[in-house]
Amino acid sequence: MRKVKLGIIGLGRLGRKHAENIHYKIPNAELTAICSMVQEELDSVSNEMEPKYVTKDYKEILENKELDGVVIASNSYFHCKMICDAVKSGVKNIYTEKPLGMTIDEINLIRDTVNKGNVSVFQVGYNRRFDASYQAMKKKIDEGFIGKPILIKMINRDPASMAEYIIKFSPTSGGLVFDMLTHDYDSARWLIDSDAESIYGLGGVYAYEGLAKVNDIDNCGILVGFKNGTMGWFETTRNCTYGYHVETEVFGTKGCIRVCTTPTKDRVIYLNDEGVNQKCVQWFYEYWEPTFVAEMQHFVDCIIQNKKPLVGLEDGYKAVEWALAAKKAVDNRTVIYMNKDEK
Ligand code: NAI
Repeated sequence: MRKVKLGIIGLGRLGRKHAENIHYKIPNAELTAICSMVQEELDSVSNEMEPKYVTKDYKEILENKELDGVVIASNSYFHCKMICDAVKSGVKNIYTEKPLGMTIDEINLIRDTVNKGNVSVFQVGYNRRFDASYQAMKKKIDEGFIGKPILIKMINRDPASMAEYIIKFSPTSGGLVFDMLTHDYDSARWLIDSDAESIYGLGGVYAYEGLAKVNDIDNCGILVGFKNGTMGWFETTRNCTYGYHVETEVFGTKGCIRVCTTPTKDRVIYLNDEGVNQKCVQWFYEYWEPTFVAEMQHFVDCIIQNKKPLVGLEDGYKAVEWALAAKKAVDNRTVIYMNKDEK
């Protein structure tokens, strides 16, 4: 079997998981090269998975002609530079974590560079599209089960246990709207096959004063008007006390489909004198793990079969374009119209 040789840049919270998935769970891929600025991360992955190349200099990964593709899992602020450098170095197959870039200038530069470069497969890490339930939902919507979509409702709640981490990383993550809600927007526009036209939002600091100091918020709700007439309601929080909770509902003229109305960890139910209880999922990776494996398998398959990935450059572009507008809507408590001057 042909093995696709991958190099990865970034071995942090998520990059380490991508490395494990490539090494242990994708039979037709090989973790050939790794890069991180953190020596302990390099040592740990290198001792355990024994990749051929280990470096702190990401350009060595981009220049390595033995590789079939590169996975970018560095902090969001480096994505633009690394993607553009990868294209300039002749890397043909690129997977990048979301978000594509942090500003309109960055995503324009990336779009221009990738489109003009010699890139075969360009995939962006909106992993939720690879969830089996979301894929079943998408299929049913396309088949007409709900009729004409009227409302798409997304709930996205991060556990309160992550608060300290969130406050520390808020300055480099882009903040609540940017960091959390691009997943929901990407899933929504894919599910109902339409882009946003108008956005209105409310939000603020309700739980963590530390976030106010870094100009971020911990809760918000956003109303989205889609071009095909569907209404969108997206709500997100950083202080979900019971764990990690995502939920999606699409309501239409003929029916309704819901995914994950209760975020239970498993099927175990505990009954005693305190009542009937179930454990809740505690963090994003636990809930979405199969999707991270599936999206990387998809990247590898696209390289082998020269296929267009399910989440490409334009999807990554639109998610960031929307997030910048949504942030503005929440910050200014105003309606933002997409593709108009207010953008
Ligand atoms: P992290 O801070 O834990 O790790 C960042 C990694 O990037 C580190 O290994 C660091 O050494 C490396 N890095 C940064 N700059 C570098 C440079 N110049 N050269 C070489 N290596 C460099 O970050 P985390 O949480 O793993 O996030 C990484 C990316 O993944 C972010 O863009 C984030 O938005 C995205 N992410 C996506 C999720 C999803 O659900 N799809 C969930 C969590 C994160």
